[in-house]
Amino acid sequence: MIEINILKFKMKNFKKYVYIKTFGCQMNVYDSILISEGLLEIGYELTENIETADLILFNTCAVRGLAEHKALSELGATKKLKTKKPDLQIGMLGCVAQNLGKKILKSYPFVDFVLGTKEMYKLPTYLNYKTDKARLEVSLDNKIVGYKTKKNLPNSVSVFVTIIRGCSNFCSYCIVPFVRGKEESRNIDEIFDEVKILVGNGVKEIVLLGQNVNIYGKDINIKLESLLQKLNEIDGLYRIRYFTSHPKDVNEDFIKSIKSIPKICEHIHIPFQSGSNRILKSMNRKYTREEYIEKVNMIRDYIPNIAITTDIIVGYPTETEKDFVDTLELLKVCKLDNIYSFKYSPRAGTLSYKNLEDDISKEIKEKRLEILNNLENEISRQINNSLIGTSQEVLWENLKKTKTTLDIKNNFTIEGRTRTFKKVFANTSIQNAEKSIGKLEVVEIKKATAYSLTAERK
Ligand code: 5AD
Ligand code: SF4
Repeated sequence: MIEINILKFKMKNFKKYVYIKTFGCQMNVYDSILISEGLLEIGYELTENIETADLILFNTCAVRGLAEHKALSELGATKKLKTKKPDLQIGMLGCVAQNLGKKILKSYPFVDFVLGTKEMYKLPTYLNYKTDKARLEVSLDNKIVGYKTKKNLPNSVSVFVTIIRGCSNFCSYCIVPFVRGKEESRNIDEIFDEVKILVGNGVKEIVLLGQNVNIYGKDINIKLESLLQKLNEIDGLYRIRYFTSHPKDVNEDFIKSIKSIPKICEHIHIPFQSGSNRILKSMNRKYTREEYIEKVNMIRDYIPNIAITTDIIVGYPTETEKDFVDTLELLKVCKLDNIYSFKYSPRAGTLSYKNLEDDISKEIKEKRLEILNNLENEISRQINNSLIGTSQEVLWENLKKTKTTLDIKNNFTIEGRTRTFKKVFANTSIQNAEKSIGKLEVVEIKKATAYSLTAERK
């Protein structure tokens, strides 16, 4: 008995802890999981307490200035930890690492390595170097190597799987093509094997990710539909989602085929960014507002109950009141289920940064954002209200302890999503709650807000 305790104590002393913080999009979340897996394999354990870490990693986002600032200020705050613990290793990964490269090493000399978007997967090999010189790898020319499929994922119901990396569209405001490189599809068999492993581990839903999933396979002569059909065959997988679709690449053939593949959920995310044709042209988006409306109508003709969501930027350079009203009007005409709205953020290196002054004041951007979000709240409230009394299939994903319910027996809340990606809550007993996670259930919708639905279990 005593010996076992000593053994445990010794093992603990040898263990190394990694703290990894992820900024930005779902693709970064996926990458952080991949990186953590590589580190677990060489003996690291994850910690949520930065003070106890032997290795601190920031997986960063450069899409907007604010995300970049946040990452840099958190990086700055690690200096005092390094002073206390000189063996501590600190690494900057991902888009900000790629974007700022050497500048990070110059401004933050206590940083051990800066690994860009294509190099960060090699992290375990970098950790073996013990040199006084900080390492910098930010080449975009290389193919991604050191890629590992996910084996030891904690038991989650819904997980992300990146299928295409990078972007070749060069929308004028966007830094992604500069920090992630050109489109690069993952091998279809590799994705299939990965999803099979995930499903074997209990995963029920996969969310396929890419800056533009619709052009998956173009570079390797494969169609997204083939991948979707293959994944649809996996036993034990209930649902397939996909984010994001560029409007110019959504066509009738694609919509017909997703309609015919049963596990694909009725939700499509198609950013329109602006409702003004003049701004869309300047953004280099390659469609007009009229073409966007046509696509939305076409999609709804094939799949009437589909939910459509979008991204919108307000305050793009030169955006007039009239341009902004065009955006509001487009949203009103299309009545989209949800929007992700952003204030324009000038990013060095992009075309709009080079050619156009960031001439819309912070106050106007904020006001436009507020007006836009108020409009969307009204639209989503109406859409969600229309679902009251309907039956919906929900996949229960999480358990939440309720603090507000007065119902002593059913005082736990479970959280899930409809096929149309709407959040659903239901009160239940703890026994039923635990049994429900990972299960599909048809429920009746009793209440709705702009953000979620409340269901009663039959
Ligand atoms: N400023 C504001 N929003 C941006 N996005 C991309 N680049 C910028 C920028 N410079 C938004 C777009 C995109 C989403 C992921 O982020 O709406 O669809
Ligand atoms: Fe950026 Fe446009 Fe590519 Fe989306 S499609 S990642 S907005 S360049």
